Amino acid sequence: MPVSLSTAASLYDRVRRVIPPIEWPAFTDDIDAILALKRQHNAVILAHNYQTPEIFHCVADIVGDSLALARKAMSVDADVILLAGVHFMAETAKLLNPGKTVLIPDLGAGCSLAESVTAEDVRLMRQRYPGVPVVTYVNTSAAVKAESDICCTSSNALQVVESLGAPRVIMLPDEYLARNIAAQTKIEIIAWKGHCEVHERFTPTDIRELREAHPGVTVLAHPECPPEVVAEADFAGSTAAMSDYVGRHKPARVVLMTECSMSDNVAVEHPEVDFVRPCNLCPHMKRITLANIRTALEQNRHIVTIDADVAGRARRAVERMLAI
Ligand code: 13P
Ligand code: SF4
Repeated sequence: MPVSLSTAASLYDRVRRVIPPIEWPAFTDDIDAILALKRQHNAVILAHNYQTPEIFHCVADIVGDSLALARKAMSVDADVILLAGVHFMAETAKLLNPGKTVLIPDLGAGCSLAESVTAEDVRLMRQRYPGVPVVTYVNTSAAVKAESDICCTSSNALQVVESLGAPRVIMLPDEYLARNIAAQTKIEIIAWKGHCEVHERFTPTDIRELREAHPGVTVLAHPECPPEVVAEADFAGSTAAMSDYVGRHKPARVVLMTECSMSDNVAVEHPEVDFVRPCNLCPHMKRITLANIRTALEQNRHIVTIDADVAGRARRAVERMLAI
């Protein structure tokens, strides 16, 4: 059943500040179809904060950062979970709700961090540092999680590291997240050499130039940014923490040192805040589109599967994190 004109109009009202009127007609057909397909297949769409506004605000049922999506995936009652995000997020949803069909619209939606480390690398690190616990960022494959003691996200990394009662921990694969956490704790952190290809491109000079061009601007950074960038920012936190910061402090002018769609999605909620927009696109997140979400629901693809032995061990590491 097509969305009624009034529903389409009210959806556009929501996103009119971030989607120009000339672009909107290109989306309505797919939005109509996706809303109908969700009802037909008893499906829900989980969307990460980096999804484009026509996905995030118009077809998603549940939105958030990696931690929120993992928590919410656990209690989804529908038959099908479609993950509008990258592959490790879909795997995490499958780990936590294995009875559901989990779909990802494009199998190529990867992550440079997840690519930077293998299960064999983790086994070698354990041999090199016997007895040192391994904390693995969720931005990894299930096979890597399966070799780990516990997972973390950018929301809870400090808490997870401090929960282990160990004087030193291995933290992988994000070198910058590890160094940003090391700056906040007495626990010794052994880092890996992975980087997020989006956040590693920001520099302290970018921030200084922004402050000169936009006096008084509040600068928020994701902890996947290099430590020198985090040091120049006014606040660093996960995508959800940055969004909360804007809601709580309502800065007159703000810049988010992160993926481009974040500013659009947060701007929809806070019309009174002026967003300065230098940002970097994540090519993996941008593989997800309304068109391939529609096809995924129509054709029940691509179904996420995880080897049972790997899944059992990976689930333990994720559940241990969620228990904190
Ligand atoms: P968050 O957990 O902060 O949403 O980050 C996920 C991610 O991929 C950031 O690049
Ligand atoms: Fe991975 Fe960076 Fe893209 Fe997040 S923004 S999915 S960490 S490449």
